[in-house]
Amino acid sequence: MNFNNVTIKDVAKAANVSTATVSNVISKTKYVSPELTKRVKKVINQINYKPSKIARSLKVNKTFYLGLIVPDITNPFFAEVVRGAESVALRENYQIFLCNTDGNVHREEKALKSFYEHHVDGIITVAPRMKEADLEKYFNSIPFVIADRPLNIKNYEANLVYADNIKSSYQLAKHLIKKGHQSFACIAGPREVLNVQKRIFGFSKGLKDSGFSEEKNVILYGEFNYENGFKLMNKILELKPHPTAVFALSDITAWGALEAAKSKGLKIPEDIAIAGFDNVYFSKLLNPSLTTIHQPKYELGRVAVNILIKKLNNMKEGLMKKSEIILESKLILRNST
Ligand code: RIB
Repeated sequence: MNFNNVTIKDVAKAANVSTATVSNVISKTKYVSPELTKRVKKVINQINYKPSKIARSLKVNKTFYLGLIVPDITNPFFAEVVRGAESVALRENYQIFLCNTDGNVHREEKALKSFYEHHVDGIITVAPRMKEADLEKYFNSIPFVIADRPLNIKNYEANLVYADNIKSSYQLAKHLIKKGHQSFACIAGPREVLNVQKRIFGFSKGLKDSGFSEEKNVILYGEFNYENGFKLMNKILELKPHPTAVFALSDITAWGALEAAKSKGLKIPEDIAIAGFDNVYFSKLLNPSLTTIHQPKYELGRVAVNILIKKLNNMKEGLMKKSEIILESKLILRNST
């Protein structure tokens, strides 16, 4: 919609260039000399020309919208991923449509369908909970990036980017053993989440490689949230004797676990050591500060959008059909262990 009826023709006439030159200056699709670019931009400002996004979309067959789905908008982990995604989208003149699903698979499917019907140019789904076979239906119908989740299926035509789950969880186990702990517990996220399975695998292997049997590690599953951390820590503290080291598989869960232990009068880490995963902004502010595993959240969002836009710009060549980028995660030792 052109609010002041100024058209591209008016700009071309006033700048004494063709409409194609004006269009190339705006879309940066073709080279225009600095002198002409400056002249065109000066006229655009002078007569207050507002290019029509819809006209541009029809011309280049793009909407310049990207769909982004997260499972929990209240978790600072996903907020940072979204910030990173937006930083690239805005730089590349794309607008992000954000959908929160509260970890609900049906809402995830609904968001994908809605994005598809609204002709977004591409989709990024962060930590999707849908079954891989259901996700796969979308891989070939629209440019698609999966962030923060590996896949079990091997012949997928999708682009993945996530942080390492196994190595850092293994290192955490070794750290706790070095601190003298001999009994452990994990407050995990949902059992079906692949990140959860890989973190448990890494942590359990660290214990096993040091001679600890599986009985020495109690594993409780539940949603990634404060309430669940609080509730399951109370369950762990009912065990006699209770484990002396707890790995909560996300910082928001670890926070709940920490407060539950403190509410029982336990000293941390003297009576019970607690570690998290994510290194969100509040982890260093907790009392005591939280040992955790740093995930490159902002970078995860940036890389996901960079891959998607590269895919969009190479659709004809069919490039970028399949890729898997694993970002480094890092053990951060603080006062809770
Ligand atoms: O805090 C939410 C958790 O869900 C993060 O660890 C993220 O990796 C996802 O698994």
